Amino acid sequence: MITKDIQRREFLKGAAASAAAIAVLPTSRVLGANDRVRLGAIGFGGRGQEDMREALKLGNVEFVAVADVYKRRQNEAKQVAPGVKLFTDHRRLLDLKDVDAVIVASPLHIHGRHFLDTVAAGKDLFCEKTMTWSIEEAEACRDAARKSDRVIQVGLQHQSSGPLADSKQWIKEGMTGKITHVESWMSRNTPRGKGQWVRSVPPDCTAANVDWKLFLNGRRDRPFDPYKFINWRLYWEFSGGNVTENMVHQIALIMRTLELPLPTAAYMSGGVFSERDGREVPDTIAVTLDFPNDLTVTWQSTFSNSHYGLGERYLGSHGTIERLAGTTDMVTGKSQTGVWYFPEKVNRPNGAMVEGQTPDINHMANWIDCIRSRKEPNAPVEIGYRSAVAAHMANLAYRRTERITLEAVKRSATTA
Ligand SMILES: NC(=O)c1ccc[n+]([C@@H]2O[C@H](COP(=O)([O-])OP(=O)(O)OC[C@H]3O[C@@H](n4cnc5c(N)ncnc54)[C@H](O)[C@@H]3O)[C@@H](O)[C@H]2O)c1
Repeated sequence: MITKDIQRREFLKGAAASAAAIAVLPTSRVLGANDRVRLGAIGFGGRGQEDMREALKLGNVEFVAVADVYKRRQNEAKQVAPGVKLFTDHRRLLDLKDVDAVIVASPLHIHGRHFLDTVAAGKDLFCEKTMTWSIEEAEACRDAARKSDRVIQVGLQHQSSGPLADSKQWIKEGMTGKITHVESWMSRNTPRGKGQWVRSVPPDCTAANVDWKLFLNGRRDRPFDPYKFINWRLYWEFSGGNVTENMVHQIALIMRTLELPLPTAAYMSGGVFSERDGREVPDTIAVTLDFPNDLTVTWQSTFSNSHYGLGERYLGSHGTIERLAGTTDMVTGKSQTGVWYFPEKVNRPNGAMVEGQTPDINHMANWIDCIRSRKEPNAPVEIGYRSAVAAHMANLAYRRTERITLEAVKRSATTA
């Protein structure tokens, strides 16, 4: 495995320590239906701030503490909640007794560490997607979650969406017949010369204002690199590229719609074709995932054409389910968003087109509700785990230029 190196040994050492800590979980506060939920944030950049603002909008939620390795983000937290406690090291935040639950929105390569430490500290957790950077980390997090009673939501918001509910209902009613193929895609564009995701480095992003070692999280030590710190998404060490940024949302949706197990095999081709700006992760991607029971799922993406937005098509013998988001209609030229069912007249001659009507559920509100009710949230660890493994199998196929089977992944996990 690509991760069979120091990073992996370091992570597993840490995972063992966290697992031991979970066995002696601190007693957590039991919240009543109307009790205030006291939140901490680990990683308070773009998404961490969005997530926290979403949570605060719900009411009866307090932003108590933030841990971020970059001073600028700590100052931004004070603008959101003037009394918020500021930390650089997430472990100090987790020591606080007055934090009930934590939102983790750090870069991908640190999710596993932050996930395990949060659960070991007895806090409920909202962990942004992708759940982890590697398959081994996904397994360690899933195992830790199974041993704990914490309420854990993964930031896969489509798991709370109306189209998921509509699609599941149509399939349950037999309206699609046998689905043998799902095609999915995601496309974006930027002005030429400006690569997707590239962020400018703020002038205060200096070695004095960033704890670079904490960011590296066991990666090879080296002098502070502000560009990589800000643009971590572009590099394999810290990211899984568009597969972990976006495919994971759609594959998790497909897996949940069809209740799929892990893929049996993954293939992936593509490259850095849109903007050769030094990034390592591909911008043009074609993934194929094989599943048991006669099903193939494809996902393709580009960063130099946004005409078809994103979507999924479930192709069944008796009908098709199509979910579109920002797709330009071929005939009318209008942008379309929604979910529809179309009958296959050869097998369902009297079937009619149906448009999905179920509204989305607020994913953050679902987590906060579950913290109070102790019910399982809409995107629990199991779907976080399955979607992470599928994404990492695809990336491994690309990086090794070979077909990656589940057997090989499992074999490598047991011989590591
Ligand atoms: N669910 C969604 O739709 C969605 C959307 C956007 C981003 N995300 C996810 O959210 C995560 C964060 O993305 P972003 O765009 O906010 O990135 P970002 O770079 O803007 O923010 C990451 C923050 O983490 C901080 N950080 C780095 N190392 C840290 C450490 N060791 N401890 C504490 N803080 C640390 C950084 O200083 C930064 O403020 C990613 O996993 C991304 O995939 C999810």
